[in-house]
Amino acid sequence: MKKIRASVPAKVILFGEHFVVYGKQALAAAINRRLVVEASSGERSGYHVKIANIPTFGMEMDLVTGEEKARPYKDYDAAANAIAYVRESIRYLEEKYGIGGEGVEIEITSEIPLSAGLGSSAATCVATIAALKEYFGVNGDLDGIREDANRVEHRVQGAASPIDTAISTYGGYVLVEEGEVKRLHLAELNLIVGCIGSIPLSMATKEFSEMGLKTKKIVEQVKERKEVFKGIYDAIFDVSDEITAQAVTAIEENDFVKLGALMNINHGLLDAIGVVPRRLSELVKLSQELGALGAKVTGAGGLDEMGGVGSVVVLPGESGERLKGAMEIAGALVMDVKTGGEGLMMF
Ligand code: PMV
Repeated sequence: MKKIRASVPAKVILFGEHFVVYGKQALAAAINRRLVVEASSGERSGYHVKIANIPTFGMEMDLVTGEEKARPYKDYDAAANAIAYVRESIRYLEEKYGIGGEGVEIEITSEIPLSAGLGSSAATCVATIAALKEYFGVNGDLDGIREDANRVEHRVQGAASPIDTAISTYGGYVLVEEGEVKRLHLAELNLIVGCIGSIPLSMATKEFSEMGLKTKKIVEQVKERKEVFKGIYDAIFDVSDEITAQAVTAIEENDFVKLGALMNINHGLLDAIGVVPRRLSELVKLSQELGALGAKVTGAGGLDEMGGVGSVVVLPGESGERLKGAMEIAGALVMDVKTGGEGLMMF
């Protein structure tokens, strides 16, 4: 039996989220939370997709007829949404490379919380595309996989910066500027990530479909405010660029005190552009008060009216265990993460 597995990492944006949408620099890193897509030959025709950590739903899709058959699971809408990235990856590969014609079972297992700004969507696209390209013997060079995955994200979301798919593909660190992706070789960092209200993969609820729009909504709000406060926002955006540049140097020089201070300043700018909801603000303040070297929102941030769902990243210094306990009491899902790990791995 043919069986291909593709494993890819989640990401954190360390500096420059939002500002990157307007061409400024952003620095992101892979973290040691992974998602695996397994493609194996099936006895049934068409594609059968199973997200292993979500036992309550599944979906069958026949590529020849395009027919989708929901199995009698609890919530078809949520299921369809959760695997929209898989479905669109398959469609895209079929159109571009003419793959298909045999039964394929696809199974996804993931350690990446959904809607947490940790890149679960991009990870799903990269791993699905890599596994299916290999399965059907299509040239699977990394740059091609990244581009394909980014196109699929665009199709599903309407917009997507290249950061997430770059990190899931290459691992390590990437610097994005003016839409260009540059891979950087920087040392590993030990960080803490705290997620508010992220949806564990064991749940599939209506909330998930709504959360999918969160990033888009926040990015649109920033755009509107940027138009109103043009000169002010331009200045803030230039400062962010300088922060990201200095942060790369701080990591190169192992200057963690400076790195933490830059995270705190970056967080202040994110607050200034209105993407920090109360609950994420509390996690950052708590971290700073308990002695973290630096703390900031990571990714799109959040909205109070959406329950403040989102994530923060913390450079803990000596404050690690105490800090994690306090963040948990504040309602966060807390993870120790290491940056800079392997990108796409096939096995
Ligand atoms: O939280 P995420 O993974 O959706 O990150 C969004 C990052 C933004 O800079 C806000 C948008 C983008 O496309 O870069």
